[in-house]
Amino acid sequence: MLNIALPKGRLGDKVYELFASIGYDCSEIYSDNRKLVFENKENGVRYLLVKPSDVAIYIAHGAADIGVVGKDILEEDSFDIYELLDLGLGKCNMCVAAPNDYVEDFDRPLRVATKFVNIAKNYYISLNREIEIIKLNGSIEIAPILGLSDVIVDIVESGKTLKENNLRVYEKIMPISARLIANKSSYKFKSADIDRLMEKLKKELAKNDKNN
Ligand code: PRP
Repeated sequence: MLNIALPKGRLGDKVYELFASIGYDCSEIYSDNRKLVFENKENGVRYLLVKPSDVAIYIAHGAADIGVVGKDILEEDSFDIYELLDLGLGKCNMCVAAPNDYVEDFDRPLRVATKFVNIAKNYYISLNREIEIIKLNGSIEIAPILGLSDVIVDIVESGKTLKENNLRVYEKIMPISARLIANKSSYKFKSADIDRLMEKLKKELAKNDKNN
């Protein structure tokens, strides 16, 4: 049995569709209930629906064998896991964003609001730019509007949230997408199952690429 941790929500739905399309389905997952564990013994899979930011924690601790997580989370914290495959889903960019009329003052430290503290710190270290971090947990876009920060470091997908709050992308830090990850000992002891799944995923992704 392969234990697969999926991020609850929009990305998880897309990932489940992908897994179902290659034969790892578990139709009970569509039933309207609050269950978090779904099992299909015939297909040899058990899905665990967890908070997106927790997927890598379950994998690192061996509570799940494989899982899908955004590259942003892998960049923000280091986990003792294997990153196996870029699924190309949930594509977006990690960006610095600022008010439309923002002009940077290089004579003082930049005030940066973000929930991605390590990504922001590493980025500004690479630029040799002194910063002051304001750690927030969500709705980051409000910070520069209220003057709490000069800029934000956050994920931009469609750009709609920035636009509707009179902000713009100031700098792109890195592209983000969903990654298949594995627990290190699971990858050793269940390598045949995981490799079989990966091969099917690669074929399906190549097929989708051709059709797009
Ligand atoms: C994310 C991100 C942005 C928004 C970007 O927020 O933090 O706020 O999505 O998407 P867009 O470019 O398509 O508008 P999320 O919905 O995860 O909530 P959060 O505010 O809790 O981070």
